Amino acid sequence: MDLILPSRRRRLLLTGVVAAVAAPAVLTAPSVAQPKAAKQGEEKETPGEEVTPPEDLMREHGVLDRCLLLYEAGVRKLGANADLDPSLITQSAGIIRDFIHDYHEKSEEHHVFPRFRAAGKMTDLVAILERQHEAGRKVTDTILRLAPAVRSNEDDRRQLVAAIQSFITMYRPHAAREDTELFPKLKDVVSAHEYDAMAEDFEKTEHELFGADGFEKMTARVAGLEQQMGIFDLSQFTPR
Ligand SMILES: [Fe+2]
Ligand SMILES: [Fe+2]
Repeated sequence: MDLILPSRRRRLLLTGVVAAVAAPAVLTAPSVAQPKAAKQGEEKETPGEEVTPPEDLMREHGVLDRCLLLYEAGVRKLGANADLDPSLITQSAGIIRDFIHDYHEKSEEHHVFPRFRAAGKMTDLVAILERQHEAGRKVTDTILRLAPAVRSNEDDRRQLVAAIQSFITMYRPHAAREDTELFPKLKDVVSAHEYDAMAEDFEKTEHELFGADGFEKMTARVAGLEQQMGIFDLSQFTPR
């Protein structure tokens, strides 16, 4: 039997030997209270913990938005002539490349956009969104190329700031339109079965690419970059 570790989509109650050996971290979670009927080694889904495809995609937008916040903080530092460790930009761009372009956007391109096209709905919006994915990948390549020289080359620094700003300018409305216009309509263009299958496909691909707890790992990486950039403490943004 393949062991499925807990992820954001499937919170499994791992009981007995399986939980003790394979997922010790789970033992600290409140959800491990074992139902009396559960047998040792049995896996059981917790009701109500399933994540729908739109919710899944919107959580990934949350990771994207946190990367955009890192970009904004980086641009502020460059504008103020403060020192900026170039690796904070390259690592943020790396997360965007790996998690957003090569995973999240592929999910949209392979699973979401074709359903709207097949249904003849929101096709103009889908065409723009798809073009923007392509444009976004190019801008990320540019950011990754320019960032290493940010301390030494003023021209590279200027071009980097322009590239980052164009990326933010495109992705804020891009993600907001998907969240508010496209994703809420997904249920109208797929059957209930396809909707469930889509959630499973997203999960399977994410496991293949990033491991069973890929989303949590990615979020932790972003949080680490936020700490280094000085934007992790959320309370600093509360007006006094
Ligand atoms: Fe998109
Ligand atoms: Fe998206």
